[in-house]
Amino acid sequence: MTEIVRMTEEDVTAVAELEKKCFAVPWSEKSFHDEMKNKLAVYFVAKSDGRCIGYAGFWNVSGEGGITNVAVLPEYRRQGIGSMLIAEMIKTAVKLRLDLLTLEVRKSNIAAQGLYKKYGFDIIGERKRYYSDNGEDAWIMTKTFAENEE
Ligand SMILES: CC(C)(COP(=O)(O)OP(=O)(O)OC[C@H]1O[C@@H](n2cnc3c(N)ncnc32)[C@H](O)[C@@H]1OP(=O)(O)O)[C@@H](O)C(=O)NCCC(=O)NCCS
Repeated sequence: MTEIVRMTEEDVTAVAELEKKCFAVPWSEKSFHDEMKNKLAVYFVAKSDGRCIGYAGFWNVSGEGGITNVAVLPEYRRQGIGSMLIAEMIKTAVKLRLDLLTLEVRKSNIAAQGLYKKYGFDIIGERKRYYSDNGEDAWIMTKTFAENEE
């Protein structure tokens, strides 16, 4: 059974290992320790029988949620885990009365774009040469919460 729970210090080592398997330029273990102390940060992990198989998070800044990352271990992909993580972040964003969730995604990352589109994120702009490793452009994708607007 897979469950989505808030990430804690105890998950940091496992998440840093997962990160290495998912990204060309992974965040360090220290950066995840720092995130756990960051009052703006809201992170979740997907656990299958206690094993950390995915994680995702956002920063809550002035009523806007900036998603930092979403990742699922390669052998657990296409099983709805990324969807569970996104759905939990959307639920939390609504609870926190955020106006929107937003993120950057590589233009070549069709899998992630498909996930975000499925959950109502639209391309609202681009950032040229956003990724320093290969100079790739990013799409900016945003989901707004009309029901939270005054
Ligand atoms: C992006 C990622 C988190 C998706 O996780 P996942 O658990 O495989 O996603 P799900 O199984 O919930 O898929 C949800 C939807 O995403 C899209 N999708 C996922 N993988 C896809 C792929 N390989 N190709 C095309 N669309 C894909 C589909 O629309 C899918 O819906 P469907 O299954 O009904 O077709 C995962 O591929 C990953 O960890 N990638 C590496 C890290 C990364 O790039 N993160 C995003 C950084 S911005």
